Amino acid sequence: MKKVSIVLAGGIGKRMHSKTSKVMHKICGREMLFYATDAVKNVTERVILVVSPHINSEALKGFEVVYQEAPLGTGDAVKKAMPLISSLPDDGTIVIVPGDNPLIREGDISSLMDFHVKEGNGVTILAAVSENPAGLGRIVRIGNEFVHIVEESEATEEEKKIKEISTGIYIFRKDLLIEGLSQIDNKNTQGEYYLTDVLGIIAHKERVGIKILERKLPVYGVNNRVELSIATANIQTEIVERLMLEGVTFINPQTTSVDYFVKIGEDTTVYPFCILEGKTEIGMDCTLGPFVRITDSFVGKSTKIQYSFVRGSYIGEECSIGPFSSVRPENVFEKKVKIGSFVEVKKSKVSENSKVPHLSYIGDAIVGKDVNVGAGTVTCNFSGLEGEKKNPTFIEDGVFIGSNSTLVAPIILRKGAYIAAGSVVTEEVPQYSLAVGRARQVNKIGWVKRRKD
Ligand code: UD1
Ligand code: CA
Repeated sequence: MKKVSIVLAGGIGKRMHSKTSKVMHKICGREMLFYATDAVKNVTERVILVVSPHINSEALKGFEVVYQEAPLGTGDAVKKAMPLISSLPDDGTIVIVPGDNPLIREGDISSLMDFHVKEGNGVTILAAVSENPAGLGRIVRIGNEFVHIVEESEATEEEKKIKEISTGIYIFRKDLLIEGLSQIDNKNTQGEYYLTDVLGIIAHKERVGIKILERKLPVYGVNNRVELSIATANIQTEIVERLMLEGVTFINPQTTSVDYFVKIGEDTTVYPFCILEGKTEIGMDCTLGPFVRITDSFVGKSTKIQYSFVRGSYIGEECSIGPFSSVRPENVFEKKVKIGSFVEVKKSKVSENSKVPHLSYIGDAIVGKDVNVGAGTVTCNFSGLEGEKKNPTFIEDGVFIGSNSTLVAPIILRKGAYIAAGSVVTEEVPQYSLAVGRARQVNKIGWVKRRKD
């Protein structure tokens, strides 16, 4: 074991003004921190996260974690990780990255590593040239030689003009890092132990290498919600461009949000104003949008969804959803199901080729194949007398439900049953039987005329 990464994710991130630790804020459905861990995980054999005790440890499962009780600075955060790497030899390599730069990629770290090895450096800094360096550590050189990094809060007016900044990413030989860390103090305007001070200390005895990042980034660290939105826009563009190159058409990508883990099959077209979130998977040849929000759902191939909200559901192939459908969690729709305008479906199974085309509520129902649910049908699943309990409705294959029917659950409509329009159904309907549950119509001939006379 020769290479270890330390990801700095301690502190709370005051400038976010949030209950949530900064590095746990999400970018495209994924905590910011995990973009940083991705950048280093294949470059070093181990990744150690330094986090604040505020972070919910569940999300960090599978990582080596060390807690920094109080946010005493980036130098203190690195010190906290050192006991975990006591077995690393003195000439071992330590990569340090901040957890708040989600735009750094594995390629940036691996080319920094190549440079570090090729130059035979004891320490290498990943620097960048920024037109707007405010808030960042400036690289101070004399001639071409690195002297130290000065933080914004400590910088003179002259130093603030320097545009060469530290990205907060470094590679250290272990013995040099240990020596530098032992010499830093917190006698500065912030009262913090600055990791950046280590670089100036090492520069007294070893040449410190500097590599300039090849790409220009729109932000070098997310400290507030403005920078969060800039980083999000960037990552969103990367995600959508990757999907386009994989064969997905976006009619207007600028209006579309697609989370990091979303998968979309070839030849699917996404119309404007779609939001695809969480662990959503869309098949091939689908048409989504305009105005569709899909969260944590599976959508089979050749399905069309427009102007609708779909959550936590499985939708089969060749289905048609919307316009204006609300597909609430825990539904399973088989092949060729139609859920039409102003229909709400919840916790229900709808089998192959069944249709709920207009103005219905289907909840806690098992619907068989080839069922037609007429406009305005409602499953009355909630009596209000049994706590939160919801009662089930069973609709077997081939049932025809006339418009404006009320199905009072628990209830079973047997195979091939036929419900007359406007019925209130309270009892089981046998196979292939007609149920009429409504007042018989009476025609009073000439009544209107008589009344007017
Ligand atoms: C830091 C650098 C600055 C660099 C910039 C790049 C220092 C002193 N400054 O400034 O030179 O240009 O990043 O973006 O290093 N953290 C801890 N424990 C702490 C404090 C911070 O783990 O006590 C973590 C944070 O979670 C964050 C990272 O370290 O991910 C950087 O801390 P932050 O406060 O954002 O430093 P900057 O002021 O941006
Ligand atoms: Ca920062």
